[in-house]
This record gives sequence, C-alpha cells and structure tokens, in this order.
Amino acid sequence: MSVTADNTSAAPGGTHSAPADAAGTGEPLRPHAEDAFADELTALAAHDDRPRPPRWKLSPWAVATYLLGGTLPDGTVITPKYVGPRRIVEVAVTTLATDRALLLLGVPGTAKTWVSEHLAAAVSGDSTLLVQGTAGTPEEAIRYGWNYAQLLANGPSRTALVPSPVMRAMAEGMTARVEELTRIPADVQDTLITILSEKTLPIPELGQEVQAVRGFNLIATANDRDRGVNELSSALRRRFNTVVLPLPASVEAEVDIVARRVDQIGRSLDLPAAPDGIDEIRRVVTVFRELRDGITADGRTKVKSPSGTLSTAEAISVVTGGLALAAHFGDGVLRPGDVAAGILGAVVRDPAADRVVWQEYLEAVVREREGWTDFYRACRDVSG
Ligand SMILES: Nc1ncnc2c1ncn2[C@@H]1O[C@H](COP(=O)(O)OP(=O)(O)OP(=O)(O)O)[C@@H](O)[C@H]1O
Ligand SMILES: [Mg+2]
Repeated sequence: MSVTADNTSAAPGGTHSAPADAAGTGEPLRPHAEDAFADELTALAAHDDRPRPPRWKLSPWAVATYLLGGTLPDGTVITPKYVGPRRIVEVAVTTLATDRALLLLGVPGTAKTWVSEHLAAAVSGDSTLLVQGTAGTPEEAIRYGWNYAQLLANGPSRTALVPSPVMRAMAEGMTARVEELTRIPADVQDTLITILSEKTLPIPELGQEVQAVRGFNLIATANDRDRGVNELSSALRRRFNTVVLPLPASVEAEVDIVARRVDQIGRSLDLPAAPDGIDEIRRVVTVFRELRDGITADGRTKVKSPSGTLSTAEAISVVTGGLALAAHFGDGVLRPGDVAAGILGAVVRDPAADRVVWQEYLEAVVREREGWTDFYRACRDVSG
C-alpha cells in the first residue's frame, strides 16, 4: 500500500517546497543540499561499488565520504561538509542503516540541522521531507491531515488525505527529518513511538495503515539547551541512537569551519573573496571561544560569559556580515571595523548585563593583546 503524492495541498506542517523555478523567477536563494552538491553526489555514486542498503542512493562509506570530504580515484574532490570527528559521522550513517532512528543532539550551532540535511540528501537524494518542531506542532504534522474541501465533498478517502512528510518517507522508503524534536509537545512526540517501533502509521478513519517500506528512517535534531522544555520520553528515546555533536575542539578547527562556510556563503551571495580575511576570522573565533569558555586562550585570565551562545554559526554570520560591509562600503578587505559591530550584536543580547561583561573583556583582554590595537579601537567605536 502506498501513499501517492498526487495531492496538491501542502503537507500539514511540512516545509516541502515547490520546485524552485515554479514561478520562473530564477535561482533559489538557498538550494537544497542534493541540488547544491548534485555533482559530488553523482560522482560518488559512479565510483561507489560497495553494497547499498535498500533504497539508499549511496553506500554508507560513500555517504560518510560525502560528509567528511575526500578525493575520488578520478580526481574529483568531495568538499567536507562536516568538520569534526570521523567516528561521529560513521556512527550516524550506520545508525540510519539499522532499525533505529538517529537523534543529533548538541548545543546551538553545532551543525545538527546541517548534518541532518546532508545525511538525508546523500542517503535518499531528498532532504525536504522535513517537519519543523515547535511548541505548536500538531499531530497532523507527523501523521497526516485532510484536504477539507475534498473531505466535505466526498468523505474520508485516500485522495482527501494529506500525507505528512513522515508518512511520505515511510511510503517511499526515504529519510524523514524532524527538527527540534524536544520543542514538540510530549503527546505529539509520542506519535513517533508507533512509527519508529512498529514501522506503521494507522489511518483509523479509513481502516487502513501505511507500512514503512525498507529504506525508511528518521533523523531528529534537538538542542541541549532546550532540555527540560519537553524532555523526550524514555519510551521515545529508546527508539533513537543519540549522537552528540561537539563544539569544535580547537581554535584552528573552528577557524577552518568558519572560513569554509563563509567562503561558500560568500560565493552564493556573489561577494568577492576577501584576501587575508583569515586573520579577522581567527580574531572573531578567538573572542567567541574566550567568552564562551570564560577564560582566555592562554588560560591566564578569567572572563565572564555573556548570555548569548556565541556559537560557530554566529561566528559565521558575523564574518559574512563583515565581508558584505567590506565589499559594499570598504575596499573589499575584511578589517576590524567590519566585524566589530557584528561581534557586539552577538555578544550583547541583554543590554544591561552583557554590556558590562563586554566592556570588562574589552578593557582587560582585548586592549592588552599585542597586535589587537586596531581591533580594540574598532570595538570601542561601536560600543559607544
Ligand atoms: N563542525 C562543523 N562542521 C561544518 N559546519 C559547521 C560545524 N559547526 C557549525 N557549522 C556551521 O554552522 C552553521 C549552523 O549550523 P546548524 O544550523 O546546523 O546548527 P544547529 O546545531 O542546528 O543549531 P541550532 O541548535 O541553533 O538549531 C552551518 O552553516 C554549519 O555549516
Ligand atoms: Mg538546528
């Protein structure tokens, strides 16, 4: 029994998008992973002679290579998407080939969403079967909804049913994604228990069910900091293999991540590449890490941490914003003045307490640091 996607109404709560060019308006601002990296995925598939689990587009080995990067025998370069421990990626990919679902857990900005999208793209060739979890996510977003016009006109039938992204993934043997699982109310979360343990989704109104086809699995993401909002029930947690994504281990690793992503984003926004930007990136990353860790990189000075998360993701935004400033209002070279305002915005979330923390850090650490005079001045200028 299969659910066809011939129903034209949007899936409830799902974000499945229409083809990007539906209105003939041009390139999508942010293409899906499977489109953005279509060339790499095709090259990997062509070289992939290892066994593939049912309905997988690639073998687990090729999926891991897609995420971690590498060079194929014909010289095709696969760019790294995730920078971090190889083992984490291997465990995540392997989990998807088992009957357990995958839960990516971590503090904000540790690439949970990013990894989830790329895994779905590499495994199923489609990262769009997505449910965005919020406090208002209804059961229909995970199960199915109805096209009310059809329902009223013809009564409950398969054509009046609007499948959720999860139902479609089950019927088609694909990877479904649930973002921010722990924000979803507990009783709605529990809808997933039957789906994940029985691999079936009953439709009592029709006396039918949708049985998951081989190849179906689910990737959920959850934020460490949300813990306690709607803690996962232990019954649901048992259905998941949890993989914790860590913060980047060193300044260098984090600088590498930021530089790579900024380069990619900059190219998609047609920003000119900034020569020597790496020094400014290192400075942003250092400031963020020191404030996050509550201690300077040399371990000598304790500093207070502000309320914001100062994640890698925020460092990426600050640098991208700085590059745009440099490109449009400067000479294209990333300078302290281009990132100072962005840093201030990321650090000072609570105007009273965070401002004090920032001023202390500025005077006690930034001012004293060799080679940071320009940066200190730029920060003082925007701090007012
Ligand atoms: N280890 C990493 N490797 C590659 N990219 C990373 C890494 N850490 C962070 N990023 C980048 O950070 C950005 C944000 O990541 P993402 O949105 O996936 O974080 P998240 O963990 O889902 O955060 P949140 O909890 O706020 O939803 C992405 O552009 C991603 O490329
Ligand atoms: Mg996320």
